[in-house]
Amino acid sequence: MTKGPSSSQETVLRLFPGPGGPVPLRGLYLDESLRPSGTPARPFVYASFIASLDGRISLPDPDTQTRKVPRAIANPRDWRLVQELAAAADVLVTSGRYIRDLAAGVAQDNLPVSDKPEFADLHEWRRARSLTPQPAVAIVTGSLDLPIPEALLHSGRRIYIATGAAADTSRTGALTARGVHVLQVGTGSRAEGRALIAALAKEGFGNIFMTAGSVLLNALLTAGVLNCLYLTQACRILGGRAFETLHTGEELNPPADFKLRSLFYDGGGNGGIDQLFGALDYVAPPTG
Ligand SMILES: NC(=O)c1ccc[n+]([C@@H]2O[C@H](COP(=O)([O-])OP(=O)(O)OC[C@H]3O[C@@H](n4cnc5c(N)ncnc54)[C@H](OP(=O)(O)O)[C@@H]3O)[C@@H](O)[C@H]2O)c1
Repeated sequence: MTKGPSSSQETVLRLFPGPGGPVPLRGLYLDESLRPSGTPARPFVYASFIASLDGRISLPDPDTQTRKVPRAIANPRDWRLVQELAAAADVLVTSGRYIRDLAAGVAQDNLPVSDKPEFADLHEWRRARSLTPQPAVAIVTGSLDLPIPEALLHSGRRIYIATGAAADTSRTGALTARGVHVLQVGTGSRAEGRALIAALAKEGFGNIFMTAGSVLLNALLTAGVLNCLYLTQACRILGGRAFETLHTGEELNPPADFKLRSLFYDGGGNGGIDQLFGALDYVAPPTG
């Protein structure tokens, strides 16, 4: 890290746990207390979301009409932290929908870790730890409608698809022929959360970063395999009728509980929007 905590542009305020005070934004989620530290024997499964005060994680993009992180809350300071979480990952778990958006040229961004110069330190961070240049990618899909771009196939990452055992074998065969590894992690057409994480751990992955949305989060939560939610709360109300929130699915019974690990206030350099960066650890319900 080259920059010190010299101005509010570069720092956020630690609110919890105390003692409070300014800390650098860069490196926040790579700090030992917050960075993912799973092993294949004990995988660490984490997700990251930015949500508005009224709970929107996505709205239709005005140009493409595809659902995206709302422009009114997407911002480079949160994106920096997402990139840090990706830098720590052994595998990124994404969705069939994201791959279709990528192929159609309407994806929000390329999969991290970004090659842009401002993230060069994250590539160095991986190199220093003898990690592969980029995390692997696991695409969760039921439809198998996956026009995986050649650029992604030849990006030097291991590419997996995770799907159910009922998957169309001609489609899985075609993907295998393109160098994709197929994980069958469900009995029907869908991937099941517990089997998905077990299969990724068996492939040697410890830090498993879920970058998809509320449907996959549901699969992980109902299986009780999510460990940590990194949640940015943007202090803005957006409205809009065609929106998604953090979770899609039946009412959770019991509810999924989380314990706050850390909270930071970001009031600097975000074009006037305040935001809170929280890390929340999943608390499994008592057994028996
Ligand atoms: N605000 C934020 O921080 C944030 C973060 C992440 C995502 N988002 C937004 O959330 C929206 C939805 O994201 P998303 O589509 O990537 O994720 P998603 O809603 O969790 O997943 C939907 C897609 O993933 C596949 N899928 C999910 N769970 C599956 C399962 N158990 N078995 C088989 N396939 C499964 C399906 O692919 P197939 O259709 O191929 O079967 C489906 O189309 C997007 O608008 C995105 O921008 C926002």
